[in-house]
Amino acid sequence: MISEFPHLIDLNDHPVSWWNGLLDLGEKILQNPALYAGSCKGKIMGTLFYEPSTRTQMSFQTAMLRLGGTVIGFDNPATSSVAKGENLKDTTKIVSGYADVVVMRHPIMGSAKAAALTADCPVINAGDGGHLHPTQTLTDLLTLKCEKKRLSGLTIGLCGDLYNGRTVHSLCKAMSCYPDNHFIMISTKELRMPSYIKDIVRAHGGTYEETESLEDAIPKLDVLYMTRIQRERFASEEEYFAQKDTYILTTKKMQLAKPDMIVLHPLPRVDEIEVPVDDDPRAMYFKQAKYGMYIRMALILTMLQSKAKTELLAGEVHKGVSCPNPKCITHAEPYLPKSFAGKGTTLVCEYCDERILLK
Ligand code: NCD
Repeated sequence: MISEFPHLIDLNDHPVSWWNGLLDLGEKILQNPALYAGSCKGKIMGTLFYEPSTRTQMSFQTAMLRLGGTVIGFDNPATSSVAKGENLKDTTKIVSGYADVVVMRHPIMGSAKAAALTADCPVINAGDGGHLHPTQTLTDLLTLKCEKKRLSGLTIGLCGDLYNGRTVHSLCKAMSCYPDNHFIMISTKELRMPSYIKDIVRAHGGTYEETESLEDAIPKLDVLYMTRIQRERFASEEEYFAQKDTYILTTKKMQLAKPDMIVLHPLPRVDEIEVPVDDDPRAMYFKQAKYGMYIRMALILTMLQSKAKTELLAGEVHKGVSCPNPKCITHAEPYLPKSFAGKGTTLVCEYCDERILLK
């Protein structure tokens, strides 16, 4: 299925040259924001936030306001017709008729692609459940470009909830497309990086190792990317409390790190970085959040100027086959075509990337 509009559902749907263009534009805007102050005058951005957000939502809003545009939307579905039982298709159809670009965050995997299927304007994925978060990755890339002066040849430690954390999924997929990046995935056995992401890293030529020890990994790192344990994505509170507090970055552990290692975190922080670490010049997470506003300015501008079409579903519906992932949008929105990529005995859900082995 081809959509008439450009969308950002997964960064890897676009070539690396497109990401690099956004990063160059983001850097230009950062150096001289006034130059872009009226570039989206008369344009409206619709924000559909079905899940809590501070940075993503407000950085998108301020990005649009700084470009001279305006913003409509909700940050609590309970105050919209969603509370009356409206499905994702209808809400998207209506808001995309009012706005020039829609930014959506949703707790279910594959929801952004589902929204793009019916939207009458570009859709930007601002996080779909535990799946992907492409605009956080653009934020991370701009931070690395400006602070490390390169996107290749980096040893990147990813620490925390690598299973449920959408930011680290998108980041791994993206950074493995630049040469010579090595990932050290630091997590408990239960919260390891999903296999499909590791397969993508390998396929792109990236390398990785897995460890449970932050202390062992930290001296080797150029970048340490901390994440919180994603409480809302656990089946029970017991499972969450069993994982909570496993990894806490302290000033003592920072003494083991290289003098030029930088610490990133998509935020919000719970307690995985001790507050005194904030005073270490290598702590870059607050600055990182600010880079997010500039890259989102670049993204909005680019999306509004683009006439590109997007191939959203390229696979097939297989009789009697549905996605086995209970967190996939195809279960919550049953009208969606259950489309799978791949041939033979391995299929891949085109919404949530779950792999299915047919017998
Ligand atoms: C992240 C998210 O929502 O996935 N936050 C963000 O967008 N900056 C990380 C998180 O919630 O832990």
